[in-house]
Amino acid sequence: MGDDVAYLKCIRNGCGAEFDVRQAHFACPKCGDLLDVRYRWDRVDLPASLSAFERRWAERADPLSFSGVWRFRELLPFADPEQIVTLGEGQTILQQADRVAEYAGVRPGRFHLQYEGLNPSGSFKDNGMTAAFTHARLVGATRAACASTGNTSASMALYAAVNGAISGLVFIGSGKIAYGKLAQALDYGVRTLQVLGDFDACMARVQEVSDRLGIYLMNSVNPFRLEGQKAIMYRVLEALRWEPPDWLVVPGGNLGNSSAFGKAFGELLELGLIDRAPRIAVINATGADTLYRVVNDEKLRWNGGDVDDARIKAFYDQMDAEGRRAKTTASAIEINRPVNLKKCLRALEITGGLVEKVTDQEILDAKAQVARGGLGCEPASAASVAGTRKLVARGVIDPGDRVVCVLTGHALKDPNITVNYHTKTDSELQGLYRDYHIEAAHFANRPTVVEDDLDAIIKAIEEH
Ligand code: F0G
Repeated sequence: MGDDVAYLKCIRNGCGAEFDVRQAHFACPKCGDLLDVRYRWDRVDLPASLSAFERRWAERADPLSFSGVWRFRELLPFADPEQIVTLGEGQTILQQADRVAEYAGVRPGRFHLQYEGLNPSGSFKDNGMTAAFTHARLVGATRAACASTGNTSASMALYAAVNGAISGLVFIGSGKIAYGKLAQALDYGVRTLQVLGDFDACMARVQEVSDRLGIYLMNSVNPFRLEGQKAIMYRVLEALRWEPPDWLVVPGGNLGNSSAFGKAFGELLELGLIDRAPRIAVINATGADTLYRVVNDEKLRWNGGDVDDARIKAFYDQMDAEGRRAKTTASAIEINRPVNLKKCLRALEITGGLVEKVTDQEILDAKAQVARGGLGCEPASAASVAGTRKLVARGVIDPGDRVVCVLTGHALKDPNITVNYHTKTDSELQGLYRDYHIEAAHFANRPTVVEDDLDAIIKAIEEH
């Protein structure tokens, strides 16, 4: 494993420049496009079937076999085992969620939630961060930076705290971070810059700063992040006894997950380890719907790596001219310019995927339903369930199809909106979230206010 097996390759058809994995590049030095990590698979000791990975369960005393990312290390073989930085990430569950299935309109037994809130920092980001920190160590980085709506920063801060040799720097848009996530970055001790701008501004600045100062970039433009996130799909397949579902539904923000999942399935198909891929449905919030528009309205396609850059530029220029800015209570996906747009287009092509969008109202109602089903997630995560419900209603997903929704982050990451949803009256909610078009908390579980008096408490309990 390592240098002789893996290399970096520009995704652009017509460039395709290749680079050594022992270098840190976050964009193609020749043309500026995104880079892929590629492998010379003939030099990898791959198992004959995916079920062979199950033997790692018996080797759990070894941290690499315990990790839900690195127990699949032959499928992301860019580092030698002794270089790997792991915190035991990826102990996540695939829940058969019959109550939520009913809400989504999928037949019981056919609907599953892949819950990434169980990761050490509480979101899916740890899957990617373990891989990016491993690469950072491989290239001898001493400083790392990211822009974040909160989860990337929490994850990076945690890995930096444990790693010690790599210090972290976080760029956070002013007022655009959920409380629970900011708490994590501060508590894990990472240097935090609150930039007076939104996520897209932070993303642009952190790329410039890391370029200028030679700081290792931890956002998902870093192709090694996506290598780690492929493992979420390996675990989904494992939990389904290696049988691919019909649909894989995921929220779309910076489009790192959808890109990584598409790459994972593309590679497994190429290697003959699966014979079909699930269709990936990427769900935007209506207030942050760049992908939806470029795919469904502009008809932008991967086109074998010849993506129409002029069309993307014109789209963004128009967005700026109209002053259209992303706005959704699902703060993690409040993104205008998704950095992995092109890789996501590729994922849609590989898997026959599609893009849907859902309102904040639909997201928050779906989030409440997910919680009643027994798992807590943050608003962005619930977009996957809201999206499934919409796609079933539209007749795109059949109720008998087997569906997996990825719940990307934990409920307690963004508790304010949850408490408001359950405690405010509908008119208070409308006032609080005026710009987000939230009309009512359809599944509110309102607390009862009661005097500090035994009889009053008993009366309140019995009246209910
Ligand atoms: N869900 C959660 C909980 C997230 O934190 C994010 C992204 C997404 C979905 C979107 O992911 O890039 O795969 O489409 N959060 C980033 C952050 C922006 O800074 O933590 P994607």
